[in-house]
Amino acid sequence: MRLWGGRFSGSSDEAADYFHSSISFDKRLYRYDIIGSIAHGKMLGKQGIITLSDADLIAETLESILNDIESGALSISLDSEDIHTFVEGELISRIGDAGRRLHTGRSRNDQVALDMRMFVIDDIDAIKALLLALCSQLVETAEMHLDTIMPGYTHMQKAQAVTLAHHVLAYFEMFKRDCQRLDDCSGRTDVMPLGSGALAGTTYPLDRDFVKEQLGFSSISANSLDAVSDRDFCIEYLSCLSMIMMHLSRFSEELILWSTDAFSFVEISDAYSTGSSIMPQKKNPDMAELIRGKTGRVYGSLLGLLTIMKGLPLTYNKDMQEDKEAVFDASDTVKSCITIFIGMFKSLVFNKETMYNSSLSGYMNATDAADWLVKRGATFRDAHEIIGKLVLYAISQKRPIEDLSLEEFKSISELFDETIYEAISIETCVDARNLPGGPAASAVSDALVNAKNWLSTL
Ligand code: ARG
Repeated sequence: MRLWGGRFSGSSDEAADYFHSSISFDKRLYRYDIIGSIAHGKMLGKQGIITLSDADLIAETLESILNDIESGALSISLDSEDIHTFVEGELISRIGDAGRRLHTGRSRNDQVALDMRMFVIDDIDAIKALLLALCSQLVETAEMHLDTIMPGYTHMQKAQAVTLAHHVLAYFEMFKRDCQRLDDCSGRTDVMPLGSGALAGTTYPLDRDFVKEQLGFSSISANSLDAVSDRDFCIEYLSCLSMIMMHLSRFSEELILWSTDAFSFVEISDAYSTGSSIMPQKKNPDMAELIRGKTGRVYGSLLGLLTIMKGLPLTYNKDMQEDKEAVFDASDTVKSCITIFIGMFKSLVFNKETMYNSSLSGYMNATDAADWLVKRGATFRDAHEIIGKLVLYAISQKRPIEDLSLEEFKSISELFDETIYEAISIETCVDARNLPGGPAASAVSDALVNAKNWLSTL
């Protein structure tokens, strides 16, 4: 079925029809399309543009079409060009001329902009719910590991000791910002475009605010040209989704590393691992790798839509139909990745002892030894130099600095006394970093309180 046959005398090419139709993927917008049409129809009746009885009949029939799709009684035929065509065609087949009046004062250009905005706003809520479940899981795990000491890294080299709780809560902060970004994106998407027509508004006395209220939007679009050609909200949403994937991917990468024989910090459960068809001993972190891999796919959607939009003159161009698969695929991908990540994360078994033992090598207490000298009156630069020499000596001995005798310490600097040992124990190194935002159990406990407060306000 076509909504625009009048001007055409020839029939269209079958392959071309298939090529330009979007029903196979935009059918998932049916709900928004119908709800939007109900609001538009009611407004047409209220404004006397169509009769109230036609408006009532339209609303009632659209509702039954919605129910029929949802119950499975009506299947969305892929013969229609797009979801808008399908819904309008079904309406007309059920109520004839009244149905043929629905599209008065509307274009598919403002209609599709409306549908996509409604989709994105709801989808943001769904993604946020998953992110909140993830954040709750992170808090739960962090609570169990306030005292689980592990190495912190820079340049992939051991740097200073932290705790697993602190490390996990670093990701909590990232996902919290992701939620806030989604809120911002939702706020900017919350603009009602109907009334913009094809591009230049309409001559009918539409009540745009009424439609806005009916659909629960906060405002109406300010410029008809912009309203039908703007896909910033889709791009912004894709960028939020990309950021979420970037965070999930970093965390996945760490779990992949931590589960290697070399690290052995963690064991990913069998439920989230796979084997090899040839190497019987293998247990591979495929889920984490796939999450890392699918990040590229979501970035691809973002880059794809940015590229689609960059050369489009105002206003609507059919290129913009490509927005849907990008947004739908990215959304589906992110939802499955967060869900799998939560399950995988819950099932992790952390090897606390291995993490602790790993913290004892790598001279991660060298900064603390320098800080000890500073507290004894040395300048930090001198202390840095002295401890550098101490570490060089300890490396030549293949011993950690806490294993050196006091004489050996004193041979490097006369400032040392026996209190140095307590000051550079790995526990002290962590506990002393107790500023807000630091890894000490006291600071992380405060961070946990803040994290839980934030979760409870949502
Ligand atoms: N399927 C189209 C899309 O997704 C709907 C809008 C069509 N408008 C038009 N003038 N061809 O963009």
